[in-house]
Amino acid sequence: MPVVAIDGPAGSGKSTVARAVARQLGVAYLDTGAMYRSVALAALDHGIDPSDGPALAKLAGGLDIDVGDRVLVDGADATTAIRGADVTAVVSTVSAHPEVRAELVRRQRQWAEEHGGGVVEGRDIGTVVFPDAGVKVFLTASEEERARRRQRDEQAPDVATVAADLARRDSLDASRAASPLRPADDAVVIDTTGRTVDDVVDEVVGLL
Ligand code: DC
Repeated sequence: MPVVAIDGPAGSGKSTVARAVARQLGVAYLDTGAMYRSVALAALDHGIDPSDGPALAKLAGGLDIDVGDRVLVDGADATTAIRGADVTAVVSTVSAHPEVRAELVRRQRQWAEEHGGGVVEGRDIGTVVFPDAGVKVFLTASEEERARRRQRDEQAPDVATVAADLARRDSLDASRAASPLRPADDAVVIDTTGRTVDDVVDEVVGLL
């Protein structure tokens, strides 16, 4: 079950690179951030406190999450809603709960079994979810470049607000006790600052 694990902070180019690598290799692609965002969206919809781990785990356990070209949560198209500012504001808190992570990690491993592997993107893929992944990549980029990319993607009004939100999320994701954001010891760290997508994709594919 060959897995290509692609981890890194927001704005590092993960999604763009992971999707392109999967396309080039002709294998399946899983965005695990979309799964955490789906749980965060459902929590907001159900009025569940983002700091209530047991209630969130119960919610996650019963939630139908289908992450593909579109994201379906309990059958409803949530592709746009999971990228909203309200979801982004609480997703780091939601994803810090070990009981929420346990449920989603279980599903991620199941996905890989069903698809015979693939490209999996997230924060803890190389460290926790697939420690035996054939290739592990950790993408980074300068804070300025990450903020610029996010601003462009989200069409946010000003880069300073985006930069502050990225810094807040990075610090929450990297400092949490459960599966913090960090490169696996055997990950190849690639700085994407000032590099084209094609260039980075070629480097990743070249690792295989
Ligand atoms: O990749 P993203 O920005 O869509 O991820 C949203 C949040 O989900 C991110 O702030 C941290 C969390 N996340 C995680 O904890 N573990 C993963 N494997 C993927 C995402």
